[in-house]
Amino acid sequence: MSVLDVCCGTGTYAAAVPGPYLGLDLNERFVRFARRRYSNLPRKQFVVGDATAMPLPRQSFDTAIFIDALHHFPVEINRAIFHQLAAIVRAEILIVDVSPHVRNPAKRLALAIDRGDFIRPVAQQVAIVESELRIVRRSVFDQGLYTQTVYVCRAP
Ligand SMILES: C[S@@+](CC[C@H](N)C(=O)[O-])C[C@H]1O[C@@H](n2cnc3c(N)ncnc32)[C@H](O)[C@@H]1O
Repeated sequence: MSVLDVCCGTGTYAAAVPGPYLGLDLNERFVRFARRRYSNLPRKQFVVGDATAMPLPRQSFDTAIFIDALHHFPVEINRAIFHQLAAIVRAEILIVDVSPHVRNPAKRLALAIDRGDFIRPVAQQVAIVESELRIVRRSVFDQGLYTQTVYVCRAP
């Protein structure tokens, strides 16, 4: 399965992908770091690019992942990214984002210091995702101090 990692940062999830992987991020330093980090794994590729204008052919990836980026963007940017993914991806698009519905004080602190300006209730996350994609499954899991929702989506 080929995987496109949109807004990949330093490529944290590349090692979890057994097959071909392309990480795309706007930050050149992150991409340089990721290339060095995975220089021994030729099937892990990284490019500098703007997720709102990805020059990738239609249906060119099996899967895309978009992890912890939704809450860094306003609605229109997220929609622009999802609109493109609907064309680029053949199968499933996995979107993961933080849930603000937490009571645990340590989790609340982690959210308070998060650098994302758009932490949204799950209902708003769903509305944004569903404006461009079809959610086929949704689940919640804990990752460190974050409670995360994963949306498994397909093109509409
Ligand atoms: C919070 S980080 C998430 C990184 C990664 N997905 C992870 O979970 O480790 C958000 C990333 O989005 C990237 N980014 C911001 N605007 C972007 C854009 N227009 N196109 C591509 N990447 C962008 C930033 O450089 C940053 O690496």
